[in-house]
Amino acid sequence: KQIVILASGSGSNAENIITYFQESPGIEVAAVLTNKKEAKVLERCDRLGVPAFYFNRTSFTNSNAVVQVLKGFSADLVVLAGFLWKIPENMIAAFPNKIINIHPALLPKYGGKGMYGERVHQAVKENSETETGITIHYVNEHYDEGAIIFQAKTAVNPSDDANSIAEKVHQLEYEHFPKIIEKLLS
Ligand code: GRF
Repeated sequence: KQIVILASGSGSNAENIITYFQESPGIEVAAVLTNKKEAKVLERCDRLGVPAFYFNRTSFTNSNAVVQVLKGFSADLVVLAGFLWKIPENMIAAFPNKIINIHPALLPKYGGKGMYGERVHQAVKENSETETGITIHYVNEHYDEGAIIFQAKTAVNPSDDANSIAEKVHQLEYEHFPKIIEKLLS
């Protein structure tokens, strides 16, 4: 089975998924696609020997180019790992129930356009939440609204700040995301 990852930034989840499946026969990360030329995920792919490709806004939203690339890699699952653009309808139609995303909070809380990265953890802190977590969900045409596949929680203490919350959430992501992907593909 082939996984293609879309990532816009650091790509620590991408790296974690790649190395997880390097140990597991039958499933591999075929490629990583990014919309940011400078994304750190590209260095990671270089180091790990995974092909990585950049695409721009026009080819993503106004053409079938990225869909063709995904099909070229025979993607059984498209994994968004810190990917920040909205997925266009042609891609959703081409990969029904085969595109998943990870969100660093307990959706439906702290989701939607503009709610990503540090902003999510800051909002959790400002609202004095006592818990947060991760949500892995199918992707539909609305930000963060597709059917939920999996959630895991972690406690937020009064002494936590946005950074320590981010750290806890990342740990949950590293622990669960590869396993959920494996489950979906088995
Ligand atoms: C993760 O927290 C993910 O939940 C969110 O963006 C972050 C990506 O981090 N959507 P990284 O690029 O995998 O390090």
